[in-house]
Amino acid sequence: MKKLNQMYEGKAKKVFATDDPNVVLVEYKDDATAFNGLKKGTIGGKGIINNRMSNYLMQMLEKNGVPTHYIEEISDRETLVKKVTIVPLEVIVRNVAAGSLSKRLGLPEGTPLRKTVLEYCYKNDELGDPMVNEYHIAAMGWADQPTMEKIASYALKINTLLCKYFKAVNVDLIDFKLEFGLTSDGELILADEISPDTCRFWDSTTHEKLDKDRFRRDLGGVEEAYQEISSRLMGE
Ligand code: TMP
Ligand code: ASP
Repeated sequence: MKKLNQMYEGKAKKVFATDDPNVVLVEYKDDATAFNGLKKGTIGGKGIINNRMSNYLMQMLEKNGVPTHYIEEISDRETLVKKVTIVPLEVIVRNVAAGSLSKRLGLPEGTPLRKTVLEYCYKNDELGDPMVNEYHIAAMGWADQPTMEKIASYALKINTLLCKYFKAVNVDLIDFKLEFGLTSDGELILADEISPDTCRFWDSTTHEKLDKDRFRRDLGGVEEAYQEISSRLMGE
C-alpha cells in the first residue's frame, strides 16, 4: 500500500492517506503534550512503544470479539488502520479514583470505586474537551442511542480484557481513554490508540506509575516507565 499525502497532524500522531480510500496510515511521534497542549515535550522512543503496544492490544481485543481499526503494522512507527469518522467523544473508563475524578470529587488518588465509572468528554481542544452526559450527546447529535449503547458495552468489555492482561504482569489498570469511529459501512469500531499516553498503569505491588503521568507531573523516569510497561506486557 502506498503512503500518500498527510491528511492530519495531531499531538502524538500523523495520519496519511493511502491508495485505498478505506485505509489510512498512522505514524506515531515522540512528541508529548499535556493539559490541552499547554505542556510540551518529547519522550524518546514513545512513538515506537505506543505503536507496538496499541497494535498488540487491539489484536488481542479483536480475537476477543471487539472490532478495531487495526489492519497491519508496517514499521516500528507506522500502522495501517481502517479509515473512520471519529465519534467526537473521549470515552473514559475508571476502576480506581485518580486524575480529574479525584480532583472533582475530592477523593484521594487510589480510592477504589465500587463500580466501574464511564465518562464522556466532547472532543474539542478549544473548549478543553468538556465532560458531557448522554443527554448532551443525543441533543447535539454526536452519536445516536444504539451507538452509545454499543460504545458503553464495548468499553466495559475492553476494560475487563485489559484488566486481565495487565494484572497478569502485576499492573493495575486505573483508568483509560478510548475513541470509537464509524467505517464507511457504518460499522462502529475501536479507533485511536491504547498506550501509556492514554491509560494509567500502576505497579500492583509498589503503586509506581508506569504511564504518561510521569511526564504530566514531572516525576522523572518517563522513558524508563514506557519501556517497563512495554517489556512487561510484550516481553522485550
Ligand atoms: P483524567 O483523570 O485526566 O480525566 O484522565 C483519565 C484517563 O484518560 C487517563 O488514563 C488519561 C486519559 N486521557 C487521555 O488519554 N487524553 C486526555 O486528553 C486526557 C485528559 C486524559
Ligand atoms: N494529550 C492531551 C493534551 O495535550 C492531554 C493529556 O494526555 O494529558 O492535552
